Amino acid sequence: MLTRTPLFTAGGADFDPADPHLFTTDRPHQVWRQARRRHPVAWQESADGGFWSVTGHRPGSELLRRPAEFTSTLGMRLGSSPQAVRAAAGRMLVVADGPAHRRLRTAHSAWFTPRALAGLRAELLRRLDARLAELLDRGTPFDVVGELTAPLPAWALLGMMGVPAADWDHLVGLTLRAFDDDERGPEAAAARTEAHTEVFLYFADLLDRRRAEPGDDMVSALAQAVVDGQPLTDEEIVLNCDGLMNGGLETTPHAASGAMLAFARHPEVWRRLRQDPELTDRAVEEILRYTSPPMHAMRTATVDATLGDASIRAGDRVVVWFPACNADDTVFTDPERFLVDRWPNPHLGFGGGPHYCIGAALARLELRCLLETLARRVEAFEVAGAVVRQASNFLNGLRRLDLALTPTAPTLTEARRRSGTPR
Ligand code: HEM
Repeated sequence: MLTRTPLFTAGGADFDPADPHLFTTDRPHQVWRQARRRHPVAWQESADGGFWSVTGHRPGSELLRRPAEFTSTLGMRLGSSPQAVRAAAGRMLVVADGPAHRRLRTAHSAWFTPRALAGLRAELLRRLDARLAELLDRGTPFDVVGELTAPLPAWALLGMMGVPAADWDHLVGLTLRAFDDDERGPEAAAARTEAHTEVFLYFADLLDRRRAEPGDDMVSALAQAVVDGQPLTDEEIVLNCDGLMNGGLETTPHAASGAMLAFARHPEVWRRLRQDPELTDRAVEEILRYTSPPMHAMRTATVDATLGDASIRAGDRVVVWFPACNADDTVFTDPERFLVDRWPNPHLGFGGGPHYCIGAALARLELRCLLETLARRVEAFEVAGAVVRQASNFLNGLRRLDLALTPTAPTLTEARRRSGTPR
């Protein structure tokens, strides 16, 4: 087995982040804390072949900003299939570098500026308000992930992409299944591949329909996009629609449900935010830091290079652990605390460098709309059942969260009951 020094020893011999089930507890977070103090860049032995683990904010941020020495084109997550990465390399944003990446980024980025997204706000607030009113009206605890936060990004992203509303639930279900690491074994792997293939086929078909009959949506625009004198190919468009689905649907729900759990565990934070709505933008940044939805991003060294005090060789994989970097106490005071007014807040929640999240403004808008709606309707949150972490080394979040919400105003049912109006 390949070994390098300094060696990552903080977790003991059985600590292997290639195993998604390691992440169903707090253990990695505790281990990273110790690891960062000794060696913020250290070699992690693993059944997956070994890689450098980056747990410090400074080397993490540096890694992401040195794409010439640390490429994304050989895969950006642990455990991805080399075959799938080869098929997408240079054609999908997240596994492209240099001019190929810039070309794709130019074709997509106009859709994700705060200005372009401003029109979504009213619709998002309307949908959120209706859903929350319905849930509060039920008057019983509910699974926040399944009923509120998982549907949220679809309302924002899928309409904009041109996916008909009737297909949203189907596509969200497929995307979640395609990346569900919870089940192991060949059958589960085959089910993931099947779901992923269906997502590709769905977008290939949508692209055909939009080419025949263009609309005012992103897929239609990509079908006509010409960058540096070259149109995007069908494959590029379908691969990047899939990339947007992964990036957009899997992350924001984790940030949103993680925030609601924090409000349940720290009611004083929620009271402060409700009293001072001016803190909402800072609260959104603190949610991104505190919840750190992507667990990691991976790069591969193209040349021998130094990062922190580690001597990395060409071909070595380097993994930055976002929750660890975002809890670096040399950068963040009291990193374990959710400080609603934390500022400055240079978190790496959206990564950094050329691959900085293209959907950052959209995610911020979704989280802001959620906080505004909750502030209007919810007095308090209480944990009322399961809090289940997702078994994943790529996504940091909850699979299920049962909360009881205390409404700020009488719910519809209650108002009717009080006034004696029949249903
Ligand atoms: C809370 C929500 C989100 C978080 C925390 C997040 C985080 C990240 C991070 C850390 C990266 C960098 C990956 C790397 O360096 O390899 C990234 C890239 C990306 N994200 Fe997000 N993301 C979020 C929401 C979204 C949304 C809503 C979309 C959809 C529009 C999206 C689409 C993407 C895409 C396509 C990339 C690749 C960009 C590139 O390689 O140039 N993300 N995201």
